[in-house]
Amino acid sequence: MRILFTGGSGKAGRHVCRYLRDAGHRVVNVDLTPLKEPGIDDLIADITDSGSMFNVMTSYANFDELEPGTGVPAFDAVVHFAAVPRILIAPDHETFRVNTIGTYNVIEAAVKLGIRKVIFASSETTYGVCFADGIVNPDYLPVDEAHDTNPMDSYGLSKVVNEKTGRAFQRRSGADIYGLRIGNVIEPHEYDNFPAYFADPAVRRRNIFCYIDARDLGQIVDLCLKTDNLGFQIFNAGNDTNSVDLPAHDIAERFFPGVPVAQDMGKTEALYSNRKIRDVLGFREQHSWHKYVSE
Ligand SMILES: NC(=O)c1ccc[n+]([C@@H]2O[C@H](COP(=O)([O-])OP(=O)(O)OC[C@H]3O[C@@H](n4cnc5c(N)ncnc54)[C@H](O)[C@@H]3O)[C@@H](O)[C@H]2O)c1
Repeated sequence: MRILFTGGSGKAGRHVCRYLRDAGHRVVNVDLTPLKEPGIDDLIADITDSGSMFNVMTSYANFDELEPGTGVPAFDAVVHFAAVPRILIAPDHETFRVNTIGTYNVIEAAVKLGIRKVIFASSETTYGVCFADGIVNPDYLPVDEAHDTNPMDSYGLSKVVNEKTGRAFQRRSGADIYGLRIGNVIEPHEYDNFPAYFADPAVRRRNIFCYIDARDLGQIVDLCLKTDNLGFQIFNAGNDTNSVDLPAHDIAERFFPGVPVAQDMGKTEALYSNRKIRDVLGFREQHSWHKYVSE
């Protein structure tokens, strides 16, 4: 597929772009800074500028596309990751502005140009646990996509707004628009941090003990590209198990006391449910932490 990817120079995006390129897709990256990755062209553009988003989505993706002499090919899909990726990077109103206006511009341009698949990065923070002031517990465990989204911070709120934006454009256009509530992204070198998580599991509470390997996130995006006609969808994007070396029920009792736990929760099952990506998309994790960290 011919894919326009926003935010491909970032922590998550660079791994996902590589995964998609290696899976045989043509990928062009739209970002404020270049990725400079073989086989992936960079277009420098700002997602908060609507005209730029319409323009990049009608662009060649490489010089070789000049050769047939048949004009600019259409993009098959847009994957939108560009964002201010948490609080405490920019002032709160700027985080909200870039994320909401940027996502509006990207989805609007895609849909109005007739692109029938948009995948966008939402976040675990929509559930309101991660960047809460004080301790906020989930309503129940494992946290699945039906759980309420009720954050109190500008970043989580921006992602909730983006989900409504995606849903509105899907409703009008009938295109497939899938939002990924991405958990804490782990790059290969970051497995070095896991022993510290095992020594002090409390540091993972705000992430609901979730992690998503950056390469497994690539698989999830690729599966979203391959799976059509689902309309508007939200998927939790996390790995199969928790980011600490404790049984799931022990984590729940210790860190989320009093929170109802589903009867059928498996012994090591993630408290941040990834059942939907497994059942609907056919996700099979390739990069469990157990491969890289000894207990
Ligand atoms: N890293 C995580 O653990 C995590 C967890 C949940 C969700 N997410 C979401 O996943 C996506 C990627 O996150 P990341 O960790 O790779 O973040 P990142 O900051 O490493 O990458 C984001 C990229 O977006 C680009 N960008 C920012 N503002 C832009 C603008 N106005 N125009 C064009 N490009 C712009 C940046 O240059 C950067 O390359 C984000 O949407 C983030 O909210 C990340």
